Amino acid sequence: MAVLSNTIMLCFVTLVLLSVTVEAKTRHYNFTIRFKNYTRLCHTKPIVTVNGRYPGPTIYAREGDTLLVNVTNHVKYNVTIHWHGIRQLRTGWADGPAYITQCPIQTRQNFVYNFTITGQRGTLFYHAHILWLRATLHGPIVILPKKHVPYPFPKPHKEVTLVLGEWWNADTEAVINQALKSGGAPNASDAHTINGKPGPLFNCSTKDTYALAVEPDKTYLLRIINAALNDQVFFSIANHLLTVVEVDAVYTKPFNTKAIAISPGQTTNVLLNTDKKAGRCFMAVRAFMDAPIPVDNMTAAGILQYIGTPNTSNPVKPVIPKINDTAFYTNFSNSLKSLNSAAFPAKVPQTVDRNLLFTIGLALDSCPTCANGSRASASINNVSFVMPTIALLQAHFNNISGVFTKDFPDNPPTPFNYTGTPPKNLFTSKGTRLTSLTYNSTVQLVLQDTSILTVDNHPIHLHGFNFFILGSGFGNYNPKKDPAKFNLVDPPERNTVGVPTGGWTAIRFRADNPGVWFMHCHLEVHTTWGLKMAFVVENGNEPEQSILPPPADLPKC
Ligand code: C2O
Repeated sequence: MAVLSNTIMLCFVTLVLLSVTVEAKTRHYNFTIRFKNYTRLCHTKPIVTVNGRYPGPTIYAREGDTLLVNVTNHVKYNVTIHWHGIRQLRTGWADGPAYITQCPIQTRQNFVYNFTITGQRGTLFYHAHILWLRATLHGPIVILPKKHVPYPFPKPHKEVTLVLGEWWNADTEAVINQALKSGGAPNASDAHTINGKPGPLFNCSTKDTYALAVEPDKTYLLRIINAALNDQVFFSIANHLLTVVEVDAVYTKPFNTKAIAISPGQTTNVLLNTDKKAGRCFMAVRAFMDAPIPVDNMTAAGILQYIGTPNTSNPVKPVIPKINDTAFYTNFSNSLKSLNSAAFPAKVPQTVDRNLLFTIGLALDSCPTCANGSRASASINNVSFVMPTIALLQAHFNNISGVFTKDFPDNPPTPFNYTGTPPKNLFTSKGTRLTSLTYNSTVQLVLQDTSILTVDNHPIHLHGFNFFILGSGFGNYNPKKDPAKFNLVDPPERNTVGVPTGGWTAIRFRADNPGVWFMHCHLEVHTTWGLKMAFVVENGNEPEQSILPPPADLPKC
């Protein structure tokens, strides 16, 4: 009898356990890519949208869920969608960068992106990954923890997504095409935006002001996404401190700050305590640019509105770091640390199998038809990446030769004083060259800015992985001295890092995701100019260490 009841008990316990663990859901979304007219700053233009929305609709999921997003293209452009920061373990086919992991979805065609969110929770975003379409084709991805798993911080009263973007009065495809023709830089945007709205500090824009109504004495979780094309920004809320708790869907040690610095491709979750009794306060967004490069220097503004305060009262003025506040930017970056708790350990590779040093920066290409006989270009280790005409992942999977080579240089081809006087030859080499990585090898990559044309802060994004940011500094990386200062305990873990202007950043990751993975500057203009390359992570020996076969509906080129 006892044995029987024990068995029944055991079955019961197993059932309960099963129902707790096997709760992952499959969530279906339909994305129709279509034009819709939007008016900002008194300029109306058709923009490319998801389901007519700008910013696009939020995707909600829990850690462990599978997403099936059916994307149907009803615009004249080829389209792909990238799920920025989603690791895509063995499912590189669903990653989205055009001609890297897939051929684009052509007009009137569709493709179902099918992937599972494994070991990640937090805020990420999706965006188009072809041409400059992500200017308006983007939206939040909110990944909640598994059911019954709490946040490692006080439960917020409410959660809010804030998508930061850039608006051009002109058509963005015309903007970049014009720049490529002339050889110069594209026009800066006309406004920054908060959830698609520039706010009242612009002409003809007061009605396009994002307002967040809050109750006093509550905690709000703000999920902030920089979906801008070309500008890194600061974000702040007058009279309020922000507590950073997560970046790029990885929990951090909480810290308080008056403002955050956030690069295109980065996400930051902050807690906001509405510790005032009443009031109206400006939230502000302004570009960060500490190199001699013109940017959109206007302040986008939204309003934090305490419920009960009349909305006729004047909002408290925005306070935001100066546009060139390198010190603030550096201090903010250095304040970020992984939470590194028992539940969320920072798994920093302690040994390195492969050492890479990549210079990143601007340069020139010859262009006989351009005004100066040259065109702005950008490169990594002096290779300006040439886009293939069929997807690299398909070529890799099917062993098609002639599409790419695996000889991307591990080090700069000719070492020079990277941040000093530029070398005489400013021209880049061209190629579709990739770096091959052994499955599960550990990689240390030092990203070194160059002063060719000009230094600049480049937000470098790696697909398919998070990496740990071990250290960074100004000037040239010193392989003898700098590693001694690396943080190998609780460095921030991200998918996008802003490499300091005229400086370097060292990152590490484990190549545990077989496939072809794009790495590029997340300033879209620099990607256009060639500041991009890709890693091939080879299959491991076991079946579960290999990339899965392509889905049947994968678009053809
Ligand atoms: Cu968010 Cu390859 O980009």
